Amino acid sequence: MIKVNQKPDSPLDHKTECLILPCPEEKKPDGTLKNIDETLNGAITSAFKSKRFTGKSNQTLLLNSTGSLKADNLLLVGVGKAKDVNTETICKAAATAVKLAEGSNFKSASVYLNDSCFDKIAKGPDYGELAGAVAEGAGLALYHFDEYKSRDKKDDPPNRLQKLTLIPATKTRQATLAKSITRAEKIVDAVHAARDLVSHPGNTATPTYLANHAKKMARKSKITCKVLGKKEMEKLGMGALLGVSRGSNEPPALIVLEYFGAAKSKAPTVIVGKGVTFDTGGISLKPGAGMDEMKMDMSGAAATLGALQGIADLKLKINVVGIVAAAENMPDGLAIKPGDILKSMSGKTIEVLNTDAEGRLVLADALTYAQRYKPKEVIDLATLTGAVLMALGHQAAAVIGTNPAMIKRLKESGDATGERVWELPLWEEFEKAAKSDIADLKNIASPGVGAGSSMGAAFLKAFAGDQPWTHIDIAGTAWGYDKPYIPKGPSGYGVRLLVHYLEQTKH
Ligand code: BES
Ligand code: ZN
Ligand code: ZN
Repeated sequence: MIKVNQKPDSPLDHKTECLILPCPEEKKPDGTLKNIDETLNGAITSAFKSKRFTGKSNQTLLLNSTGSLKADNLLLVGVGKAKDVNTETICKAAATAVKLAEGSNFKSASVYLNDSCFDKIAKGPDYGELAGAVAEGAGLALYHFDEYKSRDKKDDPPNRLQKLTLIPATKTRQATLAKSITRAEKIVDAVHAARDLVSHPGNTATPTYLANHAKKMARKSKITCKVLGKKEMEKLGMGALLGVSRGSNEPPALIVLEYFGAAKSKAPTVIVGKGVTFDTGGISLKPGAGMDEMKMDMSGAAATLGALQGIADLKLKINVVGIVAAAENMPDGLAIKPGDILKSMSGKTIEVLNTDAEGRLVLADALTYAQRYKPKEVIDLATLTGAVLMALGHQAAAVIGTNPAMIKRLKESGDATGERVWELPLWEEFEKAAKSDIADLKNIASPGVGAGSSMGAAFLKAFAGDQPWTHIDIAGTAWGYDKPYIPKGPSGYGVRLLVHYLEQTKH
């Protein structure tokens, strides 16, 4: 992971391989840029004139300083109109710049936190937040996962950008900057941990692997972890979760993480994650093409584990419980079949009409288990439906829940972090459509009902309890969420959203 530090300095005198200068959209160089331009004999003016660089969002211009600056190279990166600058635009610009720097083989770079885009904003995020966004964007952009490559095929770590120095415009900024850097590093670590879990293939990241990861994480922090195995689940009557794992040789796991950062008497927020470590569809087998992507069906679990890591690292003064329902969905002689009826821990019976709608089955028992904590609120994250991709693409996760105030706060956190959410309805017609003729519920609606994502939520509501509850369908955002700070593959979506949301929580 890239190391971020700070050093107050003048941009003209700062020694570095690559000096990154975020620039707002301007007609011609102004402020610091003007000084640098003069030193460079008008190289920047000429780039502006020819429109090679205008400061538009994520535009870049790499110039060799030809000895006139202490920095060997100068990299301008556009942040768009100054009045529109926010943490997301800065995060993207920083990501774009460090990727270019790494691609140009620089081993270290520095970012000048230019007053014109970090300090002269009428409203919106403050200096600390914007500076933090630089560290966050840079850290998130430079995610590498090559554990499965042989040594000689690995992109050697020494060839990567290893150090990023943030240069505050004034010394008085140092304390704020230090805080922002520390926070950003913890967040980036947590997102990378979640991405790693999703990157691992299904034959590594089994339910047992997730459980061991959770235990290791707990040992390093103020988290306690317990893992329920098949026997304990049988005792509790978790027939829904057990039903999903019946066709697999991998034992299931219910992973429970408790973090008490506030008085134990305060009711916790419970986060529940879908941890289907591979979803073949079961007997209702998925088509072969693209099935490999279903290793990401534990992205809800990864987000839950990542968020708990982040919360514990940041020592938030709140109580949070994370519950991961981990199982593998396989077809086999023992696997559940369409038409089978399962009895869940809540006592409710479920007619399984499609074994590929397994996420809601594992979550049903995890949501019931969550009730033991008498939670203040419950959030579940799941790659639950392909339908959410139809509705929102990769651009936002669907939020569906019982409490408008909670959804409003989640939306605010989504906008602040760039991990957007969009509400879909939970109408009583959908709840009716989840009722079975032969059991209490059925796991898919009759043909023609449509609204797949809302139907998934309507099913879950039967197990969610009476406290505020929100379901977040991340099937579209967990993978292929294309942004400068999100490389190809797993996005780690949910970690930053949850940490931000919980940071705003007051007990
Ligand atoms: N894991 C899938 C949903 C999914 C689809 C995640 C695409 C990521 C990308 C889920 O278990 C599933 O198969 N859902 C079915 C539900 C249907 C049978 C009601 C679906 O979406 O087709
Ligand atoms: Zn499925
Ligand atoms: Zn699934």
